[in-house]
Amino acid sequence: MSDGTGKPKTTTSRRRFLGAGLALGGAAIAGKAHAGEGEAAILEKKDWNQYLGDGVDARPYGHPSEFEKSVVRRNVAWLTADPVSSVNFTPLHDLDGIITPNGLCFERHHAGIAEVDPAQHRLMINGLVDKQMVFTMADIMRFPRENRVYFLECAANSGMEWRGAQLNGCQFTHGMIHNVMYTGVPLKLLLEEAGVKTNAKWIMPEGADASAMTRSVPLQKAMEDCLVAFKMNGEALRPEQGYPLRLVVPGWEGNMWVKWLRRLEVGDEPWHHREETSKYTDLLENGKARRFTWEMDAKSVITNPSPQAPLLHKKGQTVITGIAWSGRGTIDRVDVSIDGGRNWMPARLDGPSLDKSMHRFYVDFDWDGSPLLLQSRAMDSTGYVQPTKDQLRAERGTNSIYHNNGIQTWHVKANGEVENVEVS
Ligand code: MTE
Ligand code: CO
Repeated sequence: MSDGTGKPKTTTSRRRFLGAGLALGGAAIAGKAHAGEGEAAILEKKDWNQYLGDGVDARPYGHPSEFEKSVVRRNVAWLTADPVSSVNFTPLHDLDGIITPNGLCFERHHAGIAEVDPAQHRLMINGLVDKQMVFTMADIMRFPRENRVYFLECAANSGMEWRGAQLNGCQFTHGMIHNVMYTGVPLKLLLEEAGVKTNAKWIMPEGADASAMTRSVPLQKAMEDCLVAFKMNGEALRPEQGYPLRLVVPGWEGNMWVKWLRRLEVGDEPWHHREETSKYTDLLENGKARRFTWEMDAKSVITNPSPQAPLLHKKGQTVITGIAWSGRGTIDRVDVSIDGGRNWMPARLDGPSLDKSMHRFYVDFDWDGSPLLLQSRAMDSTGYVQPTKDQLRAERGTNSIYHNNGIQTWHVKANGEVENVEVS
């Protein structure tokens, strides 16, 4: 630092620069220019104006700017009794568009992150097949491959919110979701290579991690659109997401997307393993449980403003934005309410509208500075409309933790702070 001010000064200047940006933006919308407190920032010489930056050899694998340090996955302390059997959450309030960057995809593992050597990894297909197969990674790379963008949502996403508003931030209430472009081989091609017997009806994927996760998947789904994926957003799967191979089960609950995929057994009936009996079933009020609730119902959430992303300006032009998705197709429409669901206005969907993928919506809104009760409501291509939390509770009670797709309410206060609340 040649001016001897050191790093703190740089940070202060940057904050003033951002302030100026907002002031100018507001002025442009109001149609008048004014000299704000940020004017000095555009005149001040900064270190980055004067000194050479890093060369091309400094960052062989790129990282976000140091000013984006707070954009990270987070966990909830009381949900994380043991980190190797736990979950952290996608920082949805910091993201835009529809693709989740690889380093920010939420992680859910039952036995920690397996570090698998791809050279030693094998995928076996056994059971009701003409010939049992064992593929190396190199074998799998020789099959025709496809690229598809899909959301993965854990069935337990929003599970802590069944009995009332609890966690303060869409990262925590809705962050068990990511949306990624996968490159992989259609599962159908691998099963056809092994030759599926005519009495086969189910497959059982198994993970290579210490949890040896297993689920029963109907053969029909396996043949329809499942992928055996090895790339996410163009690069190798991250270890957290199942490197070197994971099952992609479009639109269906995340638990079925077996990571570190090592075996596919073909059978004529489901296996009734732990993850589909004691877990991932929805206990109703009458003591019966729904099971095999695979498809993820249409859902949406406003990501900005939200408790971790308050409104920083007092009033005026504001961007309300959020995400919507459905396990049954595309999103046809998202409505937004600012008065707790009494009145609705259509949001603007922007970006690609892809099957079983996240969609991005915006409402470009002129805030008068009064408190808001913000909600979003998604409608999917089947005509299904996202229910209120009360509607869901009337149907399913509050025993279950899974498949809560109820409408979320954020209370925006006059000072711009945002809180997780419920209206009835
Ligand atoms: N596969 C294996 N082998 N082990 C696991 O613990 N967790 C499952 C599923 N596949 C799991 C697994 C659960 S419950 C979910 S929600 C998703 O992976 C999470 O995927 P992610 O870690 O990429 O977010
Ligand atoms: Co899960």
